[in-house]
Amino acid sequence: MTTDKKKLDLERLFEQNRSWIKKVTHEDPDYFSRLVDQQNPEYLWIGCSDSRVPANQIVGLKPGEVFVHRNIANIVVHTDFNALSVIQFAIDRLKVKHIIVVGHYGCSGIDAAMNNVRIGIADNWIRHIKDVHDKHYHELCTIHDQEKRLDRLCELNVLEQVVNIGQTNIVQDAWANGQDVAIHGCIYSLCDGVLRDLDSTITNMDELNQRNQRLLAS
Ligand code: CO
Repeated sequence: MTTDKKKLDLERLFEQNRSWIKKVTHEDPDYFSRLVDQQNPEYLWIGCSDSRVPANQIVGLKPGEVFVHRNIANIVVHTDFNALSVIQFAIDRLKVKHIIVVGHYGCSGIDAAMNNVRIGIADNWIRHIKDVHDKHYHELCTIHDQEKRLDRLCELNVLEQVVNIGQTNIVQDAWANGQDVAIHGCIYSLCDGVLRDLDSTITNMDELNQRNQRLLAS
């Protein structure tokens, strides 16, 4: 492929950018001058990198309204300084009030973990999902339909990540300092676009411990 051809491929994006600017400033002439001064999001979104699950569009939020971190299968582990940096910045600097873990049904990262599909380097990343699978093995074994079992593992993965976030010293320090931070678990359906609450919100240490106990017992 020549360099000119590559430029042409990107030209569509630059054109769309120009028409987006036109549309936005037509509706709100101060849009950029207001945003450039500060971002003030109330939400931190931790979701899957899947291109079909874009944070802002799904929940109708504008630029500046949601701080976003995405990775394969929306995992938060305590050795991932990328995710931890995002969480700390969101809590300490941006003072977000809500952290939302958003999984999605039919996640291919979760599918690869459940069915031992080799991907490459990501095999090591999705090993964390295999841990979730093994932890909830007995429950998952009762679900004979493959698709339903995958969907349940997608939900369980979200629930585990909610607890993982609550177990960071970042969140626990914020709670100890009286800062309001709620951690929520949600799941998105690619089939109908619906975002569902998994009723797993935690806002303090007691709720974290209860949620963790429930996951250990299930
Ligand atoms: Co996914």
